[in-house]
Amino acid sequence: MFNIKRYKILKMLLDDFGNEVSGEYMSGSLVISRAAIAKHIKKLRTYGFDINARSGGGYTIETIPQIINEELIRYYSEYPIPIKIEDVVKSTNIDAKEWAEENAEHGAMLVAKIQTSGRGRRQRLWQSVDGGIWSSVILKLDIAPNQVQPVTLAAAMAVTQAIKQNSKDANVKIKWPNDVLVNDKKVCGILTEFIGDIDELRYLIVGIGINNAFDTDKFEGELLNIATTLKTENIIINSSRLIASVRDNLLSITKKWCETKSAKDIIDFFRENMAYKNEEITLSGAGKEIVGILKDIDSDGALIIETKDGDQKIISGEIGVRRV
Ligand code: BTN
Repeated sequence: MFNIKRYKILKMLLDDFGNEVSGEYMSGSLVISRAAIAKHIKKLRTYGFDINARSGGGYTIETIPQIINEELIRYYSEYPIPIKIEDVVKSTNIDAKEWAEENAEHGAMLVAKIQTSGRGRRQRLWQSVDGGIWSSVILKLDIAPNQVQPVTLAAAMAVTQAIKQNSKDANVKIKWPNDVLVNDKKVCGILTEFIGDIDELRYLIVGIGINNAFDTDKFEGELLNIATTLKTENIIINSSRLIASVRDNLLSITKKWCETKSAKDIIDFFRENMAYKNEEITLSGAGKEIVGILKDIDSDGALIIETKDGDQKIISGEIGVRRV
């Protein structure tokens, strides 16, 4: 449960990372006793924070642990919107939907450390071991149902930006429509669910899974060949920081999109960061396969493939590549 005093203590320590913050100062500014400060520090330590105490003096935070923690996510976040953190769930999309029905606000995010039945696209199971970021963001956007398509591209953009913000030389690309690749292997998948009807979008659940702080030996089956983790690619990002960056980015991107009623920024970003551009690909889906050169996406986010019969516009499917 988010605790505002504990958050403020953590903030004071992190703002002065590596330096001592006096207990007296903290107790004075938060108007709580020194004993209460000590209690919060004890609690923070149980989360994994390495906080040094000098008797009669103050507290120093020495390291930031690789944890998913509400106070830490809030510290890194631009928007103070609720986050729920669960240890184990079937699927964060399911729990987020329940939360949305109980009136969660726009931008609320549910994160789990482990999913037992994580869902992927096309009814696949999504492997979700400890160390990854398994999350769902509830979006209540002022957008017509038939205009909602770019939301998944927006989420891929948010993740790509977040990885680059935290690791600027990372080789990150987006594989249409919604996979984020690092060094050509998948690190993130997105599963967006639309709740509403043909006339009205009630809300969206944007499920975002990121293989972050674990090793690929945790993967089972074919995933070993096609997927990777940020850790394996030597990209070390604090999970709480990554969660905050992804949500902040997604909220900023969708805000601008709704305000301007134009997805141009999203489409442009996608074009600049698109994987396999000008390469031969196969596009499978709906029982057929198309072979051609991946040329571009159009202003609605549809894929344009140059085939022997001319250009084809594709709105759904899965890209495969055969590189020699
Ligand atoms: C894909 O097939 O690429 C989409 C995978 C989406 C996985 C995420 S993990 C968090 C959220 N909860 C789920 O059950 N799925 C999405």
